[in-house]
Amino acid sequence: MAILVTGATGTIGRHLVRRVGDDVIAFVRDKAKGHALGCRYVVGAFTDHDSLARAMRGVDRVFLNGAGAVPGEQPMIPHQRAVIDAAAEAGVEHVVKLSVWHARIGGKLAEGAHGVIEEYLKASGLPWTILQPNGFMQNYSTGTAVATEGGHLIGSYGDSRVSYVDCEDIAASAAAVLANPQPDRTFVLTGPEALTHSEIADKLSTVVGREIRYIDLPPTEFANRLTAAGLPAPFAADVAALFAEVATGKLAPTTSDVATLTSHSPRTFDDFLRTNTESIKEAWSKA
Ligand SMILES: NC(=O)c1ccc[n+]([C@@H]2O[C@H](COP(=O)([O-])OP(=O)(O)OC[C@H]3O[C@@H](n4cnc5c(N)ncnc54)[C@H](OP(=O)(O)O)[C@@H]3O)[C@@H](O)[C@H]2O)c1
Repeated sequence: MAILVTGATGTIGRHLVRRVGDDVIAFVRDKAKGHALGCRYVVGAFTDHDSLARAMRGVDRVFLNGAGAVPGEQPMIPHQRAVIDAAAEAGVEHVVKLSVWHARIGGKLAEGAHGVIEEYLKASGLPWTILQPNGFMQNYSTGTAVATEGGHLIGSYGDSRVSYVDCEDIAASAAAVLANPQPDRTFVLTGPEALTHSEIADKLSTVVGREIRYIDLPPTEFANRLTAAGLPAPFAADVAALFAEVATGKLAPTTSDVATLTSHSPRTFDDFLRTNTESIKEAWSKA
């Protein structure tokens, strides 16, 4: 059995390659990063069709993941389509795609891009499973998808709750599906509880050792702050619109899909804080 993991050096991927074990082949852009993973790897890029074709040789199953949303056109769409095309050409038996909760064609940023890719995968003829995670707890240890100002958290979430999920649980869920494919099914991966951003700020304050507050802003003002911090205005407006959608409570429900796939309860935010203390302190020392 050979399982090709794309996005192998990323937040999810580096946990996943360890969990897949001897069957794994990591698809990496950089040889040194591949070597550091300590597993078999092939060097290539989503923009290099020959490298994808080479990587797919003899591969049975593929984990499809890459970088998130960026300003402007979403390169993740052509990148992930190229992986799907190469997998279909090579006769791969199953593709597990990492998406996002509420992915849909016409959605903003990652939701829209993943919606397009999900439909492309479903139309490809390849057997597929889609994993739709909620926001990552790791955003609070990497700084990804988190807005800060003056060392505090800012946003337009109101007092809505979000059932953030730990990337370890996403990786564990992906490893389970790669070992035992579940064709034509979509799983929504959440944590076990939903927290407000004020509750999250309080918990971060305890770990970081200083006060971190959550400052709620009207979406237009939040977009202005993001633009002032250097983001292009259309991107900032889309981010603010997405955060304002969260305020409706759409990311608050919890599901049992992590437990169904992995046979263990998903990690709590407190578990995440305990196992990522140093990276959280490091990230918030720069906020
Ligand atoms: N953050 C959230 O809250 C959240 C929530 C739900 C879903 N998501 C989705 O999660 C995904 C990101 O997952 P992640 O955080 O694990 O990824 P990540 O840490 O951002 O890493 C991205 C990975 O993709 C690789 N990559 C980027 N461009 C590539 C290219 N042209 N060719 C080959 N490989 C390339 C990177 O390799 P290098 O090491 O070479 O850069 C890296 O391994 C996105 O699709 C995002 O929409 C995020």
